[in-house]
Amino acid sequence: EEAGRHARFQARIEAEERIEPNDWMPEAYRRTLVRQISQHAHSEIVGMLPEGNWITRAPSLKRKAALLAKVQDEAGHGLYLYAAAETLGVAREDLVDQLLDGRAKYSSIFNYPTLTWADIGAIGWLVDGAAIMNQIPLCRCSYGPYARAMIRICKEESFHQRQGYEIMLTLCRGTPEQKAMAQDALNRWWWPCLMMFGPPDSESQHSEQSARWKIKRFSNDELRQKFVDATVPQGHHLGLAFPDPELAYDAETGHWRFGAIDWEEFRQVLAGNGPCNRQRMRQRRDAHAAGAWVREAALAHAGKRARRASA
Ligand code: ACO
Repeated sequence: EEAGRHARFQARIEAEERIEPNDWMPEAYRRTLVRQISQHAHSEIVGMLPEGNWITRAPSLKRKAALLAKVQDEAGHGLYLYAAAETLGVAREDLVDQLLDGRAKYSSIFNYPTLTWADIGAIGWLVDGAAIMNQIPLCRCSYGPYARAMIRICKEESFHQRQGYEIMLTLCRGTPEQKAMAQDALNRWWWPCLMMFGPPDSESQHSEQSARWKIKRFSNDELRQKFVDATVPQGHHLGLAFPDPELAYDAETGHWRFGAIDWEEFRQVLAGNGPCNRQRMRQRRDAHAAGAWVREAALAHAGKRARRASA
């Protein structure tokens, strides 16, 4: 009986059917999705911090309005993703608790500092560019609510990527100091962005099963290579140099080959020892505590309405 259920489930996956919340699913499939979707949601929420840091210092009203809108979009992405995770039978409060007490992961990339305005350009261009590369295939993920949430998220991410690239373009066409600032941002963000795609395929413990379930459509290394191939010409168009002496175009394969990634740095960031891990978690906990009155007021209001409705 149990084996039959698993076989029928896998057959639905093979047939490219979407799995919906009330459908039967293997417990491990549910756990994998809760893990990935909640990590993704936390990344969006923590990802507001490095850029939020620059809202008060944006160089013009137009830049400030765009950045404000972008950071608000990220809050929205976090909320759609928590809602998608909730369809799997978990409570949002529990997921948030897991983030705040340090049990849950969020993307390594948000543990790096935003030192100059050019970092806002580099984040849009590179971090959001990497995010899109990873997320477009998730629009075809086998789990319906996650796949549908990704469609709108990808549209917004693509606007974010363009606003970042446009900041870089403006700086690169500006004074020598502005161009140097853009180059410095590329130097600091390039390698951490390559780490966003996760460990090499040979060390990615979840990839094989997630590919079988059609949660992942491309491997970590495949997406990393696609990102490098798309991004290197964009950097050259800006007139910038990549901080990798081994970066070279391979005419035979049509791919840009790149140097070795420092996986020890990645492990350290995941272990909580990146440049900003402690600061990010402290700010997140403070923001959550500062929002307690909003949650209490919302609950009191909902309680009043329920009492009125039943009176
Ligand atoms: N930062 C932090 N943790 C990571 C990262 C990263 N960049 N990459 C991999 N990991 C973690 C995995 O979560 C996993 O940890 P866990 O077992 O405790 O959950 C472990 O490293 C091993 O990695 P994989 O076996 O390759 O894990 P997985 O199959 O989940 O692939 C990936 C990782 C590609 C990040 C996948 O989870 C994914 O596509 N997630 C959705 C996209 C996302 O979360 N993006 C967030 C950043 S983009 C943004 O928010 C703007």
